[in-house]
Amino acid sequence: MSKISAIYPVFATILAAGLSAGAQDFSQNDGKVAALLSQMTLDEKIGQMVQADCMALTNASEVATYDLGSVLSGGNSDPAAGNTAQDWLDWVNGYKAEALKTRLKIPLLYGVDAVHGHNNILGAVIFPHHIGLGATHDPDLVRQAERVTAQEVAGTGIRWAFDPCVAVPQDERWGRTYEGYSDDTRWVSELGVAAIQGLQGSQLGADPQTVLACAKHYLGDGGTHNGVDQGNTECDEATLRARFLPPYAAAVKAGVGSIMVSYSSWNGVKMHSNKYLLTDVLKGELGFQGFLVSDWAAIDQIAPDYKEDVERSINAGLDMVMIPYGPGQKNNFVEFIQDLKSLVAEGKVAPNRIDDAVTRILRIKFQMGLFDGDATDPALTQAIGSPEHRAVARQCVRESLVLLKNEGHVLPLSRKIGNLVVAGEAADDLGMQCGGWTIDWQGKVGNVTPGGTTLLQAIKTTVSPDTQVRFSADGSDLAGADAIVVVVGEKPYAEMKGDTKKPDLTMDDQMLIARAQATGKPVVTILFSGRPLVLGKALQNSSALVAAWLPGTEGEGITDVLFGDYPFNGSLPRPWPKTDRQIPTLSSGGKCLFPDGFGLKN
Ligand code: GLC
Repeated sequence: MSKISAIYPVFATILAAGLSAGAQDFSQNDGKVAALLSQMTLDEKIGQMVQADCMALTNASEVATYDLGSVLSGGNSDPAAGNTAQDWLDWVNGYKAEALKTRLKIPLLYGVDAVHGHNNILGAVIFPHHIGLGATHDPDLVRQAERVTAQEVAGTGIRWAFDPCVAVPQDERWGRTYEGYSDDTRWVSELGVAAIQGLQGSQLGADPQTVLACAKHYLGDGGTHNGVDQGNTECDEATLRARFLPPYAAAVKAGVGSIMVSYSSWNGVKMHSNKYLLTDVLKGELGFQGFLVSDWAAIDQIAPDYKEDVERSINAGLDMVMIPYGPGQKNNFVEFIQDLKSLVAEGKVAPNRIDDAVTRILRIKFQMGLFDGDATDPALTQAIGSPEHRAVARQCVRESLVLLKNEGHVLPLSRKIGNLVVAGEAADDLGMQCGGWTIDWQGKVGNVTPGGTTLLQAIKTTVSPDTQVRFSADGSDLAGADAIVVVVGEKPYAEMKGDTKKPDLTMDDQMLIARAQATGKPVVTILFSGRPLVLGKALQNSSALVAAWLPGTEGEGITDVLFGDYPFNGSLPRPWPKTDRQIPTLSSGGKCLFPDGFGLKN
């Protein structure tokens, strides 16, 4: 028996006892909820359970037509007018206005993935992805980062962020490894709570600078076999509870208002149809009083027949369904409404299950004060991308950097160095610096958003006026350097697009570093990656090597440390494999190149 399952019985008892007492009590709104619910028709109730992607709506007026409770912008669903903050504010306000034209004027909740800042809009501050925040091991800093994120999201009229991901990624081959703070359950719980507090404030309430958080993806998304995205997590219940449940127990206790269900399965059963885990464990045992939202078209994966998908997911305990498709498309939100109405009429979904779902949704809307108005403070919109916000992200970058090697103490570099060559396309590529979920779902290389600073730009503004900085993207022009900074790493990706059998540094990157090493000058390698990569000869060919993860827009956070204004503080949030044969490199004692928690200080 693993050490985890040995302590599980004790742990579960403490957990269950502690939580039901500690969880934030949203039921205080239940008088108002019951009064509203008693006035609602079945159509109005089912409408509240629908979250349609904005691209599924031909016209915002469909929010009123179908009494929709929520609209989202998926990773690539942007306002027609463009991607500025104002474009988003106008877009979202249009949908919110339609909801107030309905008979009962139930306010709309608009949701987006704000997973490392308000990563959907041009000019927003992009923070390090969660794996980098995990390397800070600093809950207070995570809380500050998410407070800024909440302010920038609210500045566009949006009051719901599908964040934090509290996955506990067990296998680096998973394309979403970077969305997890760590492969250590305790750290994921602690940083996940800090994120929720930053997003929602100390108590989910009517503070217009806060947003509804969404812990995701329940349950076991990071534990699938071979790290296959949306795959199957195969383990006994004791392990599932000990390794993946604590972040949700902690999130419930911290008052998270929504939780998103995972695409993945547990021992072959789709999470979206698992009544035991969705209802008995999460809502019953842990006392979760908020609402459960599905993932993007995730119920479609339960069975070939959509009506069966609807029946099994709603009866399992799903409260709101994320539906990307509109009339004319398969499994569209109108079909969902019709199917659920039929299922109620046929006695296959009980009216009290509908009432429970709508009660949970309305509880949160009342708790957030949305019924008292949801106007956006223009000061929040103005503050998007502000120097103050960028300063918080810059600190996150500084504290996320992990120094893996520093032979001969080549770091920190001197500002007065004579000739510095910066090599590697990633050095001047904001898209690679930010990674996936940046402006577009998959992210993209190049100058993805205004207001950011690439590492090359940061170096140029940091060194002395007499220093010659030369940029050689392909590393073909290294002659005459006193030192060479080589920047390498992964191109942006998200979700299953990032799944890989071999999380290795590419041969091109390894050759670039080798060419730099051949000059005989000090080589400082900076790695942009969403996970530890098998380094091959890159480590031995580097004088110093820094894991920078996916730092986001504030490249000066890297030079702050590279040139010694701040010390290296980061430590590995998960072990670093030496070879592919060591993968999955588990914190629980697998062989590795660098253990969990490793990080040199200078
Ligand atoms: C995606 C992701 C989820 C995200 C949702 C909406 O497929 O799994 O994390 O919140 O769809 O974009």
